Formats: sequence, structure tokens, C-alpha cells
Amino acid sequence: MKTLEIIPATSEFLPDLVNLDQCCFGGLWTADGYQREITSPNSDLLILRAKKVGGRPSEVAGDQRTERVVGRSDYLPPLLGLACLWSILEEAHITLLAVHPHYQQQGLGQALLHALLQSAHKRDLERATLEVRSSNQVAIALYQRFGFQEAGRRRKYYPDTQEDALILWQGHLQDPEFLQKLDHWQHQIIKRLRRSDWTLSISPTV
Ligand SMILES: CC(C)(COP(=O)(O)OP(=O)(O)OC[C@H]1O[C@@H](n2cnc3c(N)ncnc32)[C@H](O)[C@@H]1OP(=O)(O)O)[C@@H](O)C(=O)NCCC(=O)NCCS
Repeated sequence: MKTLEIIPATSEFLPDLVNLDQCCFGGLWTADGYQREITSPNSDLLILRAKKVGGRPSEVAGDQRTERVVGRSDYLPPLLGLACLWSILEEAHITLLAVHPHYQQQGLGQALLHALLQSAHKRDLERATLEVRSSNQVAIALYQRFGFQEAGRRRKYYPDTQEDALILWQGHLQDPEFLQKLDHWQHQIIKRLRRSDWTLSISPTV
């Protein structure tokens, strides 16, 4: 069983964040952009990675920092996923959520989204919102599973494809029921990860 951890990003991960961003979004944010998120008190930038066992990431073959050969069956990138929220007034604005393409459909996306919702709750935020391409059915289904509902649509929001953005939203993050939901989802996620041979180490800082 391989162990995952979700931790706040720090500057030492900047090159890895930019690489993962390139891989998942084709270069959405720069290193400066990520650095701003790391230093901003109003941002939570989280990274997901395989936890180090005895000084090395678990079950890695070779030097992960030099061995960037995508396609190897044993390839383990330094970061498996990232997620970010901005805290604005009483709202959590989810700005990024991505899992390395080789590690999608293993439950990692749900683990990251859950960690963001947990952070939003801990920050005493009341609502969470985000924008997603109307064609991104995988992401939309994931957000809906975690309580988001469609609240509106921005027509032709994305200049590259002229696609609409759906605005998703959920409230009541401070209700006791939401805490119960977080707990329930966490159990589901742990089970889902186990099916893909992952175990999640829960960090007290997230
Ligand atoms: C959206 C994204 C983060 C999901 O990450 P993921 O690790 O694959 O998600 P999970 O494995 O936790 O899957 C969550 C659920 O989505 C569904 N799902 C995931 N990938 C799917 C696929 N390719 N086809 C159909 N359903 C899929 C499944 O129902 C899955 O749950 P299950 O495996 O328990 O049935 C990932 O696809 C990604 O990084 N996409 C590119 C970046 C992006 O679009 N981000 C969202 C921007 S708003």
C-alpha cells in the first residue's frame, strides 16, 4: 500500500508546481503566481504527493527529480495533485484542482477536494464557489458529488474555446450537518483510495 499526504505547498515545490500545472492545464499559472499563493494569508494552496518513507517517496524507482519520463509504468512524479482556494469575505473560491494525468481515476481528486472543503470550514467560511468549463463532465460530477450545485453560467467565458463557465456553489459550510458530511466523505474517500492501493495520511495542518 502506498501512502499519500496532502500538505500546504511551500517554495521548495515551485518547480514541481509549474511542471504539474503544465501537465494538467498547459501552463495556467507561473512560478510567480504560485509563489504569491504560497505567501498569501488568504490562499490555501495544497499539494498531494506520495509520502516519503525513509527519506524517499514510497515505491519510487529511480531519482524522481531527474527521471521525468512520462509513460514509464513506475513513474512517480514529485507531485500527484494540487488544489487551491482563495478566501474572500465569507466565501471559499476554488481556483485550482488537478491530478496528474497518470494518476487520475484513483480517488485522488476527491481527496484534494475534500481537503479544500475542510480548509474552508476551518477558516470559518460560509460558502464555497468555483467556475468550471461546461464540457468538463468529470469535474462537474465530482463537484456535485461533494455538494456543489449549479448557480449560474457565464456565457463564452473561456476565450480559447468560447465555452461557457458553469458557476457552482454550496453554502452552509458552518452547519453541524456539513461537519458530518465531511466525516462521511472522508470515510468514503479512504475506501476509494484503498481500492487503488493508496492510504491517506491525515495531516493536522490541512
Ligand atoms: C477533475 C480531476 C481533478 C478529477 O481527479 P481524479 O483524481 O481523476 O478524480 P477521482 O479519481 O477522485 O474521481 C472522482 C469521480 O469522478 C468520476 N471520474 C473520474 N474520472 C473519470 C473519467 N475519466 N470518466 C468518468 N468518470 C470519471 C468517477 O465517478 C470518480 O469517482 P469513482 O472512481 O469513485 O467512481 C482530474 O480529472 C483533473 O485533474 N482534470 C484536469 C484538470 C481539471 O479539469 N480540473 C478541474 C478544473 S475546475
